[in-house]
Amino acid sequence: MKIIDGKAVSQSVKERVRDEIAEKNLKIGLAVIIVGNNQASRVYVNNKKKACEFCGISSYEYALPEETTEEQLLEIVESCNNDSRINGILVQLPLPSQINEKTVIEHIDSNKDVDAFHAVNVGKIMIGEYSFLPCTPAGIMELIHSTGTDVSGKECVVIGRSNIVGKPMGMLLLHENGTVTICHSRTKNLTEVCRRADILVAAVGKAGFVTADMVKDGAIVIDVGMNRNAEGKLCGDVDFDNVAPKCSYITPVPGGVGPMTIAMLMENTLRAKKLQTL
Ligand code: GUN
Repeated sequence: MKIIDGKAVSQSVKERVRDEIAEKNLKIGLAVIIVGNNQASRVYVNNKKKACEFCGISSYEYALPEETTEEQLLEIVESCNNDSRINGILVQLPLPSQINEKTVIEHIDSNKDVDAFHAVNVGKIMIGEYSFLPCTPAGIMELIHSTGTDVSGKECVVIGRSNIVGKPMGMLLLHENGTVTICHSRTKNLTEVCRRADILVAAVGKAGFVTADMVKDGAIVIDVGMNRNAEGKLCGDVDFDNVAPKCSYITPVPGGVGPMTIAMLMENTLRAKKLQTL
């Protein structure tokens, strides 16, 4: 069993982005918009700004109060759409309940939508014609590639069908010719379905959800979970201690998928610049 080092793979992606930006002497800006006082969001946003600094991307933070209205947020998005210094726009989710997330996402210029959340970019992912890669699934593909595994013909099982992870994850695996099953809360015989997987991706949001009996010997297990256990410790969706001995490869939490999402965001911000320049 080998633990996939997400920090190391993420570092090499960020170095690739940094080197290309330096070599071509590109001036790139990313707007990072955060609304309210969600602590996890604050940590993510700080990490995204740090990654920008590493890569040589200017980050422009807009930290707005909890009571911000939808109109106020839309105005800021609009001004970023029209600002030529800004190549990418990221609105950190979740947003406070008075703001409709879908309305805000659809307001972002699809050529600056570095999260690939806009319907136009989601549609492009469906037909395999990417402007932007969905960050978390694209990061997971990099992790799988780092093991030297060819996805073609493999049984791939994704647990979770969110728009951000589960659904686009299924598409990326399908584009590499995996045989893909997406499971969710209504799936029957979940354990049996998961046991078929050569590649199992858990994006459920429940600590310890994936137990050893759900994993085939030699499987690659990717844990997208970001949960806090009873002691407040960060943990994934996989019961790591019992599952790991059965795997060929497994990602840890923290230090697995998390750092990859940010690295792929940097790559998308570079892509945005190229899209807008060419
Ligand atoms: N909230 C949780 N994950 C993400 C992400 O990848 N991007 C944004 N903008 N918000 C998130």
